[in-house]
Amino acid sequence: MMKIIFATGNEGKMREIRMIMSDIGADISSMKEEEIDIPIDENGTTFEENAAIKAKAVAAELKRLGRPAIVLADDSGLEVDYLNKEPGVYSARYMGEDTPYSIKNASLIKRLEGVPDEQRTARFVCVIAAVLPDGRCLETRAEVEGIIGYEEKGSNGFGYDPIFYLPEYGMYSAQLPPEEKNRISHRGKALEKMKKILSELH
Ligand code: IMP
Repeated sequence: MMKIIFATGNEGKMREIRMIMSDIGADISSMKEEEIDIPIDENGTTFEENAAIKAKAVAAELKRLGRPAIVLADDSGLEVDYLNKEPGVYSARYMGEDTPYSIKNASLIKRLEGVPDEQRTARFVCVIAAVLPDGRCLETRAEVEGIIGYEEKGSNGFGYDPIFYLPEYGMYSAQLPPEEKNRISHRGKALEKMKKILSELH
């Protein structure tokens, strides 16, 4: 069975990833489950760079330990057009890593005060990097378009989901049932693309 280790410490993401990858017939574990605890300096300026940095760092550690596996990592974030695509690759670090999302979300809404719907466009972006045991690094990218709402709504999902309104669905990302979010989300789509690539490898 193919062994996949996902380089993230984020439980919300791990839940989504397990659900999406459940049909690939692979043994999927998190860094925590593999007891891999290495500092990773996400100093890239693009989602592509950061995803590759994370996957390569964990792959190097697994190689050192003599435990080869396919390592997946994602880098994702929210781009708000009116704010010159902020917070972008700094989405997790916006206003400080440990600042509650209720405060981060309130800040974005405040910065868009008085801005009409047509200028509130935003997107979630996700890049998945895979480092194979032979050292190859492959990447997929997907995006989901929406607009920044005027208040927080919904209690599903995580992060910026409560302020991300999906006009096509008539609801906020945090109001979508988890299976539905996985079907349409940036991460869901980027993972589906990666799943296809991985399943064609053997
Ligand atoms: P990363 O862990 O460096 O990829 O940071 C991703 C950050 O982007 C998260 O911590 C959230 O702030 C934001 N983000 C990414 N995907 C989502 C999502 O599906 N919903 C809400 N926020 C997200």
